[in-house]
Amino acid sequence: MSSIPSSERCIELLIENGCSESVVNHCIAVKDVAVRMAKKACADVELVEPGALLHDIGRSKTHGIRHAFEGAQIAKKLGLPESIIKIIERHIGAGIPRDEAEKLGLPPRDYVPETLEEKIVCHADNLVDNCKLQNVEVEIKRALMNGHKEYAQRLVALHKELSDICGIDVNNI
Ligand SMILES: [Fe+2]
Repeated sequence: MSSIPSSERCIELLIENGCSESVVNHCIAVKDVAVRMAKKACADVELVEPGALLHDIGRSKTHGIRHAFEGAQIAKKLGLPESIIKIIERHIGAGIPRDEAEKLGLPPRDYVPETLEEKIVCHADNLVDNCKLQNVEVEIKRALMNGHKEYAQRLVALHKELSDICGIDVNNI
């Protein structure tokens, strides 16, 4: 039975698997935001913290959209719990449904966060640009400028859902 790794172990795993220093720092910044959100949302902090720290472990292989799939494969090989594997696999694009995933050349499946903890890590990543907190509106504008209308709509919806659950606009988390 696989157990949830400590925060220290998560950072070691990122480094051991070849993530750059900037990826490690990004993961720590996302973790800080995700943990604050998890506390407000009464979510499972013990899961959100390692999930957020490991969410970009797949960037050791690629920085493309496939990094979530690759990250989940690495997590599986490491014997990490399914709850963490799913956080990693479903953190992209504010949730990418199967048909869109196929068009993007991803292995066909839904990459849509389902649990509260999956949604929190996914959206904390949307609110962190590199290592700095950004308003979701910045990411929405960027998505629209790149012609990613569905992604922009999902960002709006996820931001509203988590803001409602947290009882504050999560731009201000
Ligand atoms: Fe990512």
